[in-house]
Amino acid sequence: MSREIRLQKYMADYGVASRRKSEEMIQAGRVSVNGKVIRELGVKVTPGADEVSVDGTLVVPRRQFVYLMLNKPKGYVSTTNDPQGRSTVMELLPKLDERVYPVGRLDYATEGLLLFTNDGELTHAMTHPSRELNKTYQVRIKGKLTPEAIRKLTEGMQLEDHFTAPAQLTILSERGGESQVELVIHEGKYRQVRRMFEGCGYDVLRLVRTQVGPLRKDGVKRGCWRYLKKTEIKELRRAAGLDRKAPPERRKKHGKR
Ligand code: URA
Repeated sequence: MSREIRLQKYMADYGVASRRKSEEMIQAGRVSVNGKVIRELGVKVTPGADEVSVDGTLVVPRRQFVYLMLNKPKGYVSTTNDPQGRSTVMELLPKLDERVYPVGRLDYATEGLLLFTNDGELTHAMTHPSRELNKTYQVRIKGKLTPEAIRKLTEGMQLEDHFTAPAQLTILSERGGESQVELVIHEGKYRQVRRMFEGCGYDVLRLVRTQVGPLRKDGVKRGCWRYLKKTEIKELRRAAGLDRKAPPERRKKHGKR
């Protein structure tokens, strides 16, 4: 099947100018296809096969940045492949022209919001220890949290390799011998939330990430994905400190809500 598109659309898609402006450039004799100057509108080209030049300079594809959020179910690794042959989150994404990568990780058994992009600058900013964004987790545990456990979780506690930063904790419910707790942390150490609760003597029955920086997973069903909206990408960039007009996301104060 031919993927031919109009020359002015090709130029607009590749970031030369708007379609209208591109038409003017064609009519002005500034555009050539495979070395031949084109002046009339209506010529079609095949991306990847035809060579288009403007004022003698070859038009090269502008890389498209892609941003997605996935509501990860349990039972998927969040790497692009798994030596043990387990299912990967990549299997839940659509076929894309651009290769995207997960921003950070969620454990095999952890569910919830996982972002993907090919925007290396944003990924770096979001995962850099100096800029890590707040991440909100809903944690289901057996039993009730003791005052001592709440103190450790919120004020900071020693894991094998790391003393955790202060965190924000809210008890959402305590019933049927189980508690539902919300924990907001900005660090991203390996299995950090599970290890924090285990370090206080609690087994995590279910762990779901509900928010990363300004983005919530609301409305995305488990196992489903969606593209980020332009406003969300802007908010994320700002929160990660990439938009100079605004300061990075302010860390929430710790303690019980
Ligand atoms: N903390 C964990 O323990 N697991 C995750 O997947 C994310 C945070």
